[in-house]
Amino acid sequence: MKITIIGTGFVGVVTAAVYASLGHQVTGLDIDKKKIKSLQKSQVPFYEPQLTNLLKQQQQQKRLKFTTSYAQAVKNAELVIIAVGTPSAPDGQADLSYVFASCESLALYLKKQTIVAIKSTVPPGTLDQVKQKINQARQQQKLSKIKYYLAALPEFLREGSAVQDTLKPDRVLIGTENSQVFQKLQKLHQPFKAPIVQMKPASAQMAKYAANAYLATRITFANQIADLCQKNGADIEEVLTGIGLDKRIGPHYWYPGLGYGGSCFPKDVKELAAYSRAIGEGDNILNKVNQINENRIPKLMRQFAKKLAGWQNKVVAVLGLSFKPHTDDLREAPATKVIPILLQAGAKVNSYDPMAQYSPPTSTNYQQFKKIKTACQDADVIIALIEWPEILSFDFSQVKTKKHQWFIDARNQFKPKQLEKLGYDYLGIGR
Ligand code: UGA
Repeated sequence: MKITIIGTGFVGVVTAAVYASLGHQVTGLDIDKKKIKSLQKSQVPFYEPQLTNLLKQQQQQKRLKFTTSYAQAVKNAELVIIAVGTPSAPDGQADLSYVFASCESLALYLKKQTIVAIKSTVPPGTLDQVKQKINQARQQQKLSKIKYYLAALPEFLREGSAVQDTLKPDRVLIGTENSQVFQKLQKLHQPFKAPIVQMKPASAQMAKYAANAYLATRITFANQIADLCQKNGADIEEVLTGIGLDKRIGPHYWYPGLGYGGSCFPKDVKELAAYSRAIGEGDNILNKVNQINENRIPKLMRQFAKKLAGWQNKVVAVLGLSFKPHTDDLREAPATKVIPILLQAGAKVNSYDPMAQYSPPTSTNYQQFKKIKTACQDADVIIALIEWPEILSFDFSQVKTKKHQWFIDARNQFKPKQLEKLGYDYLGIGR
């Protein structure tokens, strides 16, 4: 199949490389010339395991190319996938301007029978607007009416395991009411050996938002139970084991911490909340989930400060800067909130991350190190923020140099007793 993917951000590049690996002819299109130039040289502008190798392989096999030309990319495509960003607008709703701009550009080169599938996260109703934009753009250029098809094709990949998630998805949702379109997209996704479900476009779009909103709510729920445990002597890890054994609930994906981050959960929860308000259904759980998550870091940092008698003049080692392991993405990463709070409160901050680079708005008293050992040198407090394997496997006895040293385990990944044995004063989440 000849496939064009518009938008060579995270989702676009991963999807392009994976579809090419199935034997299709794939073109990645972006208006950002610099990005396309580096992708043409197999240089990926972010860190994602397995991606660079896959990209190189597919380019060598001549199955994958990148361009800035809509004419070149769209005129022969049987399937055009829109994977551009949909950032939150000031009112919290999804800003669809990149989606619409790409529709207006592709409209001019669209050939008949092409399927235009929207992978970007968009609210129900967007396909009607997309259709309008494409038709208007063709009318303005006095181009003839043609038969093309629209579909919703939401993505469910996670950063850090995006290639594997795309190759082995839990499910593929295809939002179309046209059986021919469904069959074509079904055939494309069959090699993934996952359940492929046909549904209305609006259902596919809602399923994408609802999946992220549910997972974010589940994490928030666990975090709130952790806060209760903190007050009453229970240990959240034991409590979660106790409830997770209930088959209706399950033991997965609710590990407590400083709240969810990244480029998706915070944005999608806010967007679904704003969308709910806009359609008169604003009195739901989503606004509250977002608010609880936003308040979480300041609240926990106040609690920690109380325990260790303030941050002023303390040397604090912050380990893990990206929003989660195996990515260099700093969007909504806890470090970007924790470090400014520490600096504001008068601490000296030394940080470490194996991949991400972070500099806070005011960087006096801040330094990033290449090694955990040097970042922890003379630390009064060590904060293990992100569960990078390098951090989990580090021998913290090497940096236990002061009589009084605190260890904040922000993801509950360490054994409190082991750290206490080394002489640290241990603080976890909800334990
Ligand atoms: C998320 C979803 O998991 C994907 O299915 C979805 O496709 C993607 O958003 C998207 O919409 O594009 P991602 O943002 O890459 O993927 O990261 P996750 O691994 O889901 O983690 C999100 C946040 O939740 C992180 O801050 C993580 O630390 C936090 N989290 C995750 C917890 O606090 N506890 C957990 O048990 C799991």
